[in-house]
Amino acid sequence: MKQTYLTLQNGVEIPQLGLGVYGAKEGAQTEQAVAWALEAGYRHFDTAAAYGNENSVGSALRKSGVPRNEVFLTGKIWNSHIRAGLTLPAFYQILENLGTDYLDLCLLHWPVEGKEKAWSVLVQLYEQKLVRAIGVSNFHVHHLNDLIQATGVKPMLDQIESHPLMNNQTLIDTLGRNGIAVGVWSPLGGPKMPLLSHPALKILSEKYGRTPAQIVLRWDIQRNVVVIPKSVHQDRIVSNSQIFDFELSEKDMEMIQSLNVGFRVGPNPDNFDF
Ligand SMILES: NC(=O)c1ccc[n+]([C@@H]2O[C@H](COP(=O)([O-])OP(=O)(O)OC[C@H]3O[C@@H](n4cnc5c(N)ncnc54)[C@H](OP(=O)(O)O)[C@@H]3O)[C@@H](O)[C@H]2O)c1
Repeated sequence: MKQTYLTLQNGVEIPQLGLGVYGAKEGAQTEQAVAWALEAGYRHFDTAAAYGNENSVGSALRKSGVPRNEVFLTGKIWNSHIRAGLTLPAFYQILENLGTDYLDLCLLHWPVEGKEKAWSVLVQLYEQKLVRAIGVSNFHVHHLNDLIQATGVKPMLDQIESHPLMNNQTLIDTLGRNGIAVGVWSPLGGPKMPLLSHPALKILSEKYGRTPAQIVLRWDIQRNVVVIPKSVHQDRIVSNSQIFDFELSEKDMEMIQSLNVGFRVGPNPDNFDF
């Protein structure tokens, strides 16, 4: 796989495509998915404490023999740990579960109470070189401003929901203007929304001779965001990675952009109950 990278504020390079593992079952299913992804050339895995499968991701990485420094590992601090002021032990638990002594990127999963204190802990871990880059997830601009006001330190990446039916482009553009990289979750619409059978994507699929998923993922690559599709099927893991050998025209990029109807698959970060 010919991979492309984005450069974070501090110079760290993040592979633009990664495998998401939310919903992959701990054990054989996750291990197999990670092994197939490594075989296909993925070198970026998006994990979280809340997904309950860090042990399997770590185990698959070790079994693969791929050197740790060739893999980009993202982890996330879960809300209960942020609220309880337990970011530091939660971070060490992530390292233990993944079987590594550093993370490439650590994110605060959602903007819950206690986020400023949790952020200052991530800043310390970054200074101690236990994590190569730090960021957030599901933060609106006002949440980011809270962190910056409290600590003076700007997150390097914000991972947010974005797909053709809710492209979140205004936030993506604002983050871009402020030097904050963007990662997009549920890029294919997540496990429930039938995004990939959208007639417009079918037309583009036929035009380019690519699957609807490849069309959407290529749109993300050309929008300069990090994209982390999840699959536990080898054929999909492989085909989702075959997006670096074709280009969507500007007009087709705009067409996909025009599918936006503001339909979220997850909650608005200003209104969630977990
Ligand atoms: N930061 C956050 O709050 C947050 C929230 C949600 C997700 N995430 C991250 O983002 C990742 C991706 O988001 P997501 O898992 O919600 O959704 P997604 O990647 O948009 O979609 C995953 C779904 O699409 C299916 N799929 C994958 N490739 C396909 C293909 N080529 N054709 C047809 N169907 C395909 C998968 O099924 P199979 O697995 O059965 O193939 C699964 O049901 C997560 O895994 C997680 O790492 C982060």
